[in-house]
Amino acid sequence: MEEARFRTLQLVEPLSDEQLNRVYSPILSPLAWDLGHIANFEELWLVQTVGRREPLDGELGRFYDAIENPRSTRNELPILRGDELRSYLDEVRERTLEVLEGMDLEASEDPLLADAFVYELILAHEHQHNETMLQLLQMVERYEPVGAQPPGSSAGDGPEMVLVEGGEVEVGAAAEGFAYDNERPRHAVELESFWIDRTPVTNRSYAEYVRDTGDEPPMYWEPDGDGWWVRTAMGSAVPLDRDQPVVHVSWHQADAFARWAGKRLPSELEWEAAAAGADPEHANLDQLAFGCAGAGAYGKAPSDCGAVQMLGDVWEWTSSDFTAYPGFRAFPYREYSEVFFGDAYKVLRGGAWATRRNVIRRSFRNWDLPDRRQIFAGVRCAKDA
Ligand code: AVJ
Ligand code: FE
Repeated sequence: MEEARFRTLQLVEPLSDEQLNRVYSPILSPLAWDLGHIANFEELWLVQTVGRREPLDGELGRFYDAIENPRSTRNELPILRGDELRSYLDEVRERTLEVLEGMDLEASEDPLLADAFVYELILAHEHQHNETMLQLLQMVERYEPVGAQPPGSSAGDGPEMVLVEGGEVEVGAAAEGFAYDNERPRHAVELESFWIDRTPVTNRSYAEYVRDTGDEPPMYWEPDGDGWWVRTAMGSAVPLDRDQPVVHVSWHQADAFARWAGKRLPSELEWEAAAAGADPEHANLDQLAFGCAGAGAYGKAPSDCGAVQMLGDVWEWTSSDFTAYPGFRAFPYREYSEVFFGDAYKVLRGGAWATRRNVIRRSFRNWDLPDRRQIFAGVRCAKDA
């Protein structure tokens, strides 16, 4: 938890108080809201629910409730700012550690405590908000990342697509260990054989599609006046790297690209089958690269079917709606997943460079609306065998 907090604060270290409180986009919270929400979520689950203590300030829970307060309204709330915000983060953490000191987090009968679920939840929550914060940081002029390290490489060559043999496969998270409710229960499904792209789709291919169809380019692309593109995230204007995975495309764009290429998006269960054997230790995850590795990187650590970069670099849009697995049970609260089930949200898989390593696993399901581009989402296509 200390490490998570160190990284949270490192992300906002270069920013002024004004930048922490500025609204950069109606679909993203001001960073000050994320910071207060991280602490408030920790207070709610560890200090209040598990520790049975009173909150430091009974009103705060209302303002930091993500469901009650749409992102566009969060700056109008009387949220904590400046020194008050920093001391709230510290005071909650102090109380959390006191509560944890007296807990038996392994052997409890309480499902919230068994296997240290609530501790893992708080940790994963802070990690997930680090990625949300990075979405906003893409919009901050001249943001200078602290602690940046280049991603790994070791690219290898291979075919454009690899085959995944059909049959019965197990999907979802096993009953033991930490996972979110939407990943359970683990269950068997029948899949037909299919082809999947060996690497994520590159900027080069996506630019060809844009030229051919006149479709809108991804977010943060501007024409360079010379037939190519510059990348404008963080207020910069650097030539777009042709060999990197395309990122910041909507589901509609990903789907249209796949059809243009004579392919389709994989379903989320096909994606999960294709990711068998992928190793999160050999993937561009954990944020410090502050960008993608070239498509084909991590070539020495392919998944069992031969695909690379199934984990890390860019989230991959799937054709699937975000729905419940058979036998789903909401835990520990309906608002984490259940209220989003239906046909409004599409599932993304695999995590991006901006995803903390602890968050991602093969069964992890992310979701967003099909027109959203602020997330670190790219494309990998599939095809019937
Ligand atoms: C899984 C990324 C869709 O940001 O809405 C953070 C994660 N849930 N706090 C979101 C989450 C509660 C969630 N996503
Ligand atoms: Fe949250």
